[in-house]
Amino acid sequence: MTSASPSRTLRLVALVLLSQQCLAIRWLALSQTTEHINKTQQCKMLPGLVSSQAQLCRSNLELMQVIVQAAREVKKTCQKSFADMRWNCSSIDAPKYLPDLERGTRESAFVYALSAAAISHTIARACTTGDLKLCSCGPTPGEIPEPGYRWGGCADNLHYGLVVGSKFSDSPLKMKRKSGLHTNKLMHLHNSEVGRQALKAALVMKCKCHGVSGSCSIRTCWRGLQDLKEIAMDLKAKYLSATKVVHRPMGMRKQLVPKDIDIRPVRENELVYLHSSPDFCTRSEKLGSVGTQDRQCNKTSSGSDSCDLMCCGRGYNPYTETVAERCHCKYHWCCYVTCKKCERIVERYVCK
Ligand SMILES: *[C@@H]1O[C@H](CO)[C@@H](O)[C@H](O)[C@H]1NC(C)=O
Ligand SMILES: *[C@@H]1O[C@H](CO)[C@@H](O)[C@H](O)[C@H]1NC(C)=O
Ligand SMILES: *[C@@H]1O[C@H](CO)[C@@H](O)[C@H](O)[C@H]1NC(C)=O
Repeated sequence: MTSASPSRTLRLVALVLLSQQCLAIRWLALSQTTEHINKTQQCKMLPGLVSSQAQLCRSNLELMQVIVQAAREVKKTCQKSFADMRWNCSSIDAPKYLPDLERGTRESAFVYALSAAAISHTIARACTTGDLKLCSCGPTPGEIPEPGYRWGGCADNLHYGLVVGSKFSDSPLKMKRKSGLHTNKLMHLHNSEVGRQALKAALVMKCKCHGVSGSCSIRTCWRGLQDLKEIAMDLKAKYLSATKVVHRPMGMRKQLVPKDIDIRPVRENELVYLHSSPDFCTRSEKLGSVGTQDRQCNKTSSGSDSCDLMCCGRGYNPYTETVAERCHCKYHWCCYVTCKKCERIVERYVCK
């Protein structure tokens, strides 16, 4: 019996394409993994991995454990950075909203960039802390330090982080597959690279003071990465000024070019997106929006967390909360402080 109707076949093809479409950041589902990964048999049970990622897991379990940690960092950092926005990064939390992130919106641009930065960040740091045996401290800078400074400590191994991190997180995008989703892949690869650029910019000089009673006459310095939340702030600014692009011929081949001002190529430090986002005011499973009902808003703020903007003009309900604080603190000679505990009632607001 070969009686599959054309429409059914089409629907099947569409389903397969859709599920392939959301492969690329599916590894973020690893954030839900609770067990410690120390056996190769665990690799095939892990959610969201494409075959080359599972292969990497089997060959380096230690690295896999670090990648699980990176997936948790992405989720936590994304949600913290967007706590004051209508879109609050809940798409990462509910796997069923991942298709929203694959549609090529501004939000997906941010998540791809943050994910690429986070995986390399976590690996680079793990080299420093000794959590990864296959790498160690980054190189000592070549230049001669200024007087009073000397190189020492253990640099974050950014190079190793970038090589191994991009190998893992870009591999779903580099898989050979003839599909019409080439444009999406280009967008995701570009934004991942923007994330790694932001990470490179976050490699700064860190120093420790030495000398008689903290006089700091000598400083030991190394190249260390800023915290991921700093990098996320940088990427959030890029998210706010992201450029809408189209895929069209530019010179010899098709490229992503800005939709409105199409006389220049895309800059390597700007996030790009293909499709405009919904306003995220109301719940829509189809669009991947959870809406802003019951979100906390700030009555005195004039930013994106203000009740007007957050609640989309629907209004808000007040409620009171009791917060405990340390108060009436007294200094006792020498050397301790005692405090009392005071309770204060504060009014807060949630969107209708
Ligand atoms: C693997 O991890 C589990 C859970 O942490 C632990 O109980 C077990 O002893 C570990 N096995 C090996 C071979 O290290
Ligand atoms: C995001 O907003 C939704 C809808 O109000 C809420 O249910 C969810 O808990 C929020 N997520 C975070 C991480 O704050
Ligand atoms: C509300 O916004 C104001 C002004 O930006 C700020 O000072 C205040 O801390 C915010 N309140 C809360 C509860 O976040």
